[in-house]
Amino acid sequence: KSVKAFAPATVANVSCGFDILGFAIDAMGDYVEITRKEKSGLCVVSIEDDGGKLPWEVEKNTCAVAIQAMLDDYGQQIGMDIALRKGLPLGSGMGSSAASAVAALIAANRLLGDPYERKNLLPFAIAAEKAACGAGHADNVAPSLLGGFVLVRDYHPLDVIKLHVPDGLYCTLLHPHYELKTADSRSVLRDSIPLKHSTIQSGNVAGFIAGLYQEDFELISRSMRDVIAEPYRAVLLPGFYEIREALKTAGALGMGISGSGPTLFALSQGSEKSEAIAKAAKEIYESIGLGVDVY
Ligand code: HSE
Repeated sequence: KSVKAFAPATVANVSCGFDILGFAIDAMGDYVEITRKEKSGLCVVSIEDDGGKLPWEVEKNTCAVAIQAMLDDYGQQIGMDIALRKGLPLGSGMGSSAASAVAALIAANRLLGDPYERKNLLPFAIAAEKAACGAGHADNVAPSLLGGFVLVRDYHPLDVIKLHVPDGLYCTLLHPHYELKTADSRSVLRDSIPLKHSTIQSGNVAGFIAGLYQEDFELISRSMRDVIAEPYRAVLLPGFYEIREALKTAGALGMGISGSGPTLFALSQGSEKSEAIAKAAKEIYESIGLGVDVY
């Protein structure tokens, strides 16, 4: 018996919500097939479209780590073969490791007869994130698992809240042709932040969420500012400030780093704006000599 599952890409942080906000992207993601086997224990039997880069060892592979965490909790070591097909580029900031872990959990849970509710799979996916990048953040795995916009209100204990998504909100993703590992992009961050930055950041995250509920695109736009991570990470992203200006001119409500980068995301109201943003993005990346895929 085998089960196939898909889990979507995600944009984490969403500018002002470092490690606490994220949303799922329609249509792009990873695919996992889990097959039950007689012998107990997990085995990664195939990985496609990863350029040969992902680990096959069950202690390191995010699909296997996530399922193992689930089976440890379940209390029975059921044998499973894991086949992963990547739809997402690695080290992209689009929640690639999260999508693999979530698809694996959904398939494995179904194979067991769905003993876990969706939300209760989250700690297992976080364990996989920790194995993949050293930090157990939930702002990719939670929206990949639950869909839409998600707030991680607290980690201890986990408290995850699905948020309203206004009609007509579009996201454009700009994926430049280079990799940035989350661990490297986290290593440039500071351990503490000045009190005034905490005030600015909380104002913006509260404003952003109010903007989602009030469907107030102007308020969403004003709130898309990050003083905690972006200033330190921007130096890892060639042309970041030029690209920001170009996208604003093209009509973006705001833009920021998708997760830990190097993908950037821009939000806009309506699909016509997103076409203008895509065009401006291709031109600006070309002018700084970088290849880019725009989604
Ligand atoms: N919140 C995480 C970070 C997301 O910014 O490091 C990683 O994709």
